[in-house]
Amino acid sequence: MDTNNVPVTVIGLGSMGKALAAAFLKAGHPTTVWNRTAGKADDLVANGAVRAATVEDAISASPLVVICLLDYPTLHDVLGGAGAALAGRTVVNLTNGTPDQARETAAWAAEIGADYLDGGIMAVPPMIGQPGSLVLYSGSRSSFDQHARALDGLGAAQFVGADPGLASLYDLALLSAMYGQFSGVSHALALVGPDHAEALSALLPSWLSATAGLSATGGDDSDSPSDMQAVAIGNISAASTAQGVHPDLLGHLLIPLRALLGPRAADQDFPTLITLLHPPTQPT
Ligand SMILES: NC(=O)c1ccc[n+]([C@@H]2O[C@H](COP(=O)([O-])OP(=O)(O)OC[C@H]3O[C@@H](n4cnc5c(N)ncnc54)[C@H](OP(=O)(O)O)[C@@H]3O)[C@@H](O)[C@H]2O)c1
Repeated sequence: MDTNNVPVTVIGLGSMGKALAAAFLKAGHPTTVWNRTAGKADDLVANGAVRAATVEDAISASPLVVICLLDYPTLHDVLGGAGAALAGRTVVNLTNGTPDQARETAAWAAEIGADYLDGGIMAVPPMIGQPGSLVLYSGSRSSFDQHARALDGLGAAQFVGADPGLASLYDLALLSAMYGQFSGVSHALALVGPDHAEALSALLPSWLSATAGLSATGGDDSDSPSDMQAVAIGNISAASTAQGVHPDLLGHLLIPLRALLGPRAADQDFPTLITLLHPPTQPT
């Protein structure tokens, strides 16, 4: 079988599932779809997708079954009765969840006799199939290798490990970094207020891209000593309070501030802060 055109089934046609199915169709895969609200498949069917009447029919149509539902309980509700049909197929679960949910679902798939890949989509629906879309996968390496070209049609496909929980772990960690950035930007815009929001917004993209590399490594503390950073963070806090800006989004800055101002201030650096958030397990 030409793995470029492997038949694919997509279960779940929310905003993301529809984008996934559309990308498979566009890449030339025979595409079967199923969704609880059947009408959401209309556009896809108009473009050549096959609408399955039942989940079991949908699964039976393809060796590669991609699932993108609201959450894992929904996935197990939807697949529960039709699980046996998955035997001998590859399940690619792109539903957002925790590493433990991914591992439990991988064990469930193994009992059924299905190969399992868990995935984390690092993109929004309009990015699917476009440059800049990244999807992380973990679980069955052989399934990933077999279907990598099909999966690449959704976005750059990156395998992060055989532990099925790893894609979810990396996904949640990257989302955590994103939400940290969102909260920082929200606080920044609140700090300057509506009169200066437009001017600040024009400065933000280049500033954030210039500092992205630094935040990934924790920065070079020889150039930006921690006590200097503590003063800057203290000034952000003081200016925010003076301008009546709600302090809650500063919480992520005040944790390092307390550490940086602690008794060993001169020794504190960014790696130490990561240790502070998640102390290594002490040998017993
Ligand atoms: N949208 C994004 O920007 C984005 C980005 C990355 C990852 N994701 C992940 O992709 C997954 C799907 O997101 P989405 O944006 O497509 O969400 P969505 O638009 O809310 O779609 C949710 C999907 O789950 C189905 N569903 C919900 N409850 C159900 C139930 N009780 N029984 C059967 N089906 C049920 C919905 O079916 P109905 O259509 O019948 O309601 C729909 O297919 C999530 O895990 C999300 O975290 C989304």
